[in-house]
Amino acid sequence: MDKYDKVTELAKRRGFLWPAFELYGGAAGFYDYGPLGAPLKRRIEDIWRQFFVIQEGFAEIEAPTIGVEGIFQASGHLSGFSDPLTACKECKEIYRADHLIKHIVEVPDALSNEEIYRTIKENEIGCPECGGELSEVYEFNLMFKTMIGPGGKTPGYLRPETAQGMFINFPRLLRHFRDSLPFAAVQIGKSFRNEISPRQGVIRLREFTQAEAEIFIDPRDKSHPRFAEVKDMRMRFYSQEAQEKGVEEEMTFGEAVERGIVAHETLAYYVARTYQFLLAVGIAPDKLRFRQHKSDEMAHYAADCWDAEVLLDRLGWIEIVGVADRTDYDLKAHATQSKVKLSVFVHYDQPVKRERLMVKPDMKALGPRFKGKAKAVADCLKALSPEDRHSDNKFHIMMDDGEEIEIDSSLVSFETIEEEIRGEEIVPHVVEPSFGIDRILYTVLDHSYYEDSTDDEIRAVLRLKPAVAPIEVAVLPLMDREELVSDARKIQEELRGLGMRVDYDTSGSIGRRYRRNDEVGTPYEITVDYETLEQGTVTIRDRDSMKQIRVPKWQVVEKLRALLDGCLRFEEAGDPVQSAKE
Ligand code: ATP
Ligand code: GLY
Repeated sequence: MDKYDKVTELAKRRGFLWPAFELYGGAAGFYDYGPLGAPLKRRIEDIWRQFFVIQEGFAEIEAPTIGVEGIFQASGHLSGFSDPLTACKECKEIYRADHLIKHIVEVPDALSNEEIYRTIKENEIGCPECGGELSEVYEFNLMFKTMIGPGGKTPGYLRPETAQGMFINFPRLLRHFRDSLPFAAVQIGKSFRNEISPRQGVIRLREFTQAEAEIFIDPRDKSHPRFAEVKDMRMRFYSQEAQEKGVEEEMTFGEAVERGIVAHETLAYYVARTYQFLLAVGIAPDKLRFRQHKSDEMAHYAADCWDAEVLLDRLGWIEIVGVADRTDYDLKAHATQSKVKLSVFVHYDQPVKRERLMVKPDMKALGPRFKGKAKAVADCLKALSPEDRHSDNKFHIMMDDGEEIEIDSSLVSFETIEEEIRGEEIVPHVVEPSFGIDRILYTVLDHSYYEDSTDDEIRAVLRLKPAVAPIEVAVLPLMDREELVSDARKIQEELRGLGMRVDYDTSGSIGRRYRRNDEVGTPYEITVDYETLEQGTVTIRDRDSMKQIRVPKWQVVEKLRALLDGCLRFEEAGDPVQSAKE
């Protein structure tokens, strides 16, 4: 068994991840989160909220998971959200064509369908199942389609990203943020993609959870007010240039922006926040890199994009987050599709004075000619500028009732006026960090899985950070005897009363119970034993070192809280137990 098999087996056996619908034969690309997986996921999402809602002041919203057709016409998903496929001519199995050449071409996304097919042919790649010949490469749209209502006339699509919910609520969000930039909204929720070959557990699902932030900024100034906080942080950047050389380059975020490696401060700031978040949930820094998209790999809407990639056993480097500058692509596309203005009036610090040549209607000439309509005609003319004159030297105006009128230039004069400009309409640009929660969760499991060899056994342990552990502490009476159980139950109730995630376990030997908890990542165990009755102390065991300390039972709750919060070192929390045996 390699590590992938071990982690997957543990996740299934211990209730983190279960293949869905097993009772009915299952379906690839769907997973259930079991009793330990669901709280692990929730805790990762809560840390994400801390980072991107609480600390950044972004607004969390919740939009429907089904969207109407217009959304995806505008976003480009209807026409362009597809994957290249190829089918085996013998066994009819269907494959992602780009995946079949991953070991030959570093970025297959950058190739056209013809180029992918040529690579398959030139390298004599056959069907991975039966070796048969593969068909030409064709496109398959990944959106799940449904019908809204019983009439069968209104198509709907399960959203392939949560992002569109924020774009189409732009006017309301703008009002919520009192009509000024920058502002941002986030969603954590399900997205759906009818993936072709979802064979890698929760890495490629057909229903998965995204956490996305859409940060609306002024395109004229992409600096970030909090960039100073991250500018001296160091990280390995796998830029376009570094990819040419095949080596990542370590530098500070400040240097990355100065050298133009990351396009601007705002993008760099959110790459840095992404990095901090990934470390906070327990991703190993030595198996994490940020790779810049190559220009021909970039999504149709992006100007610059950095993927957080993690190294996973068996699977290699896998994208778990994308941080992109989506420019004004989405807002402009939705404004065109919906015919609703999606822009912000940005006030200048100081009004700007400007001279403008304007059209001045000659009322003496217009009055007799247009009689009752003369004033309305004059108002239309005043809104024009001399450049609006057509080649026939006439202005063409459209009246409110739809009548088109041509006015000869001799009926107007031109006048230079000085006007005060207070601001301008701007279509914001959007910076988007897009997180795949399922991939992050799997990576947390993979990166925290260790095997320790003791004298006669191999101990599997998940070194989960206390902040994400589904069980924070296990309370274990040494024996299932009333005199021990009653103290243990009291401690358990007190810990739960403080909001801690506690497991209470009396089944099996104490050694077995420690192993069970190691395997699911419980950071600490409290054991109530006979010394508890004699001396009023309990033991606390540390998962990673397997060391134990004794503390008075009246102090155990307070000490545990401090240990979990990281404000107390284990060695300093109590008296070491010299002969701790498991
Ligand atoms: P890939 O190239 O691996 O298919 P992608 O480039 O399509 O990924 P994005 O469209 O950038 O991914 O989606 C943003 C994030 O959503 C990804 O970084 C990933 O973590 C997550 N994600 C995307 N597709 C899936 C999926 N099928 N299953 C689980 N997570 C996914
Ligand atoms: N919102 C980015 C993506 O899902 O592709």
